[in-house]
Amino acid sequence: MNVIVSQDFEESCKLAANIMLEQIVCKPDCRLGLATGSTAEAIYPHLVNAYQSGKVDFSQVRTCNLDEYVGLEPDHEQSYRASMDRWLFDHVNIDKGNTVVASGQGDPAAATLQFKEEIKKDGHMDLQLLGVGENGHIGFNEPAEKLHLFAHREQLSDSTIEANCRFFESKSEVPKEAISMGIGDIMQSRKLLLVAYGKNKAKVMKTLLMDEFVTTMVPVTLLKLHRDLTVLIDQELAAEIGYTGDIVT
Ligand code: F6R
Repeated sequence: MNVIVSQDFEESCKLAANIMLEQIVCKPDCRLGLATGSTAEAIYPHLVNAYQSGKVDFSQVRTCNLDEYVGLEPDHEQSYRASMDRWLFDHVNIDKGNTVVASGQGDPAAATLQFKEEIKKDGHMDLQLLGVGENGHIGFNEPAEKLHLFAHREQLSDSTIEANCRFFESKSEVPKEAISMGIGDIMQSRKLLLVAYGKNKAKVMKTLLMDEFVTTMVPVTLLKLHRDLTVLIDQELAAEIGYTGDIVT
């Protein structure tokens, strides 16, 4: 595991974007696994800036998002399809036909099957961007005794519904279910890039960085088994969990 402690969250986002840009430059037709949420949202503007200043070409890039809420139409402001369009796809020269986001509308069983097929069809991700939930979820793989390997429907935990209600008018509007890549899908990516900030992530990040075990009850710990994991945290979070690594300026 490669841990980078940056000065602040903004710096982490720039570094994360640079790692993604390097991947695109190295392999212009790479397949990127993308994430949503407030962490990922802060990274995409750096990709858009790089595109607008002519540093990167998205024309051959293929993407696949980790998850989507069940029950939200693609044009619902909080659907992950609409969010990705707004944050990234509408501002770069990506072919939207090469962007996979599970469908939140229609029959969830059929949408899950279709998502599974779409993940498989195009091969492994070259790089998967990840955020982490307060409870340690990655994608929407919630803490449980058993975790799904592949794309599946997931009941969102109370903690996730509570955390995500900031994006909706009220808690009752937060979808209770999502379609998510499984842990196996995530682990098959050639590289993993996890970005975390904020005191509310301290407990699970401590378990990831400082404890010598893995547990499905904190799904992010399973990433320790991956051969090419980069973790980006900022100084504040590092101090909160007592992590003493090199500071990248
Ligand atoms: C969303 C996703 C989630 C988020 C996590 C952190 O696609 O995969 O695992 O990364 O919930 O969300 P934020 O960044 O909003 O704290």
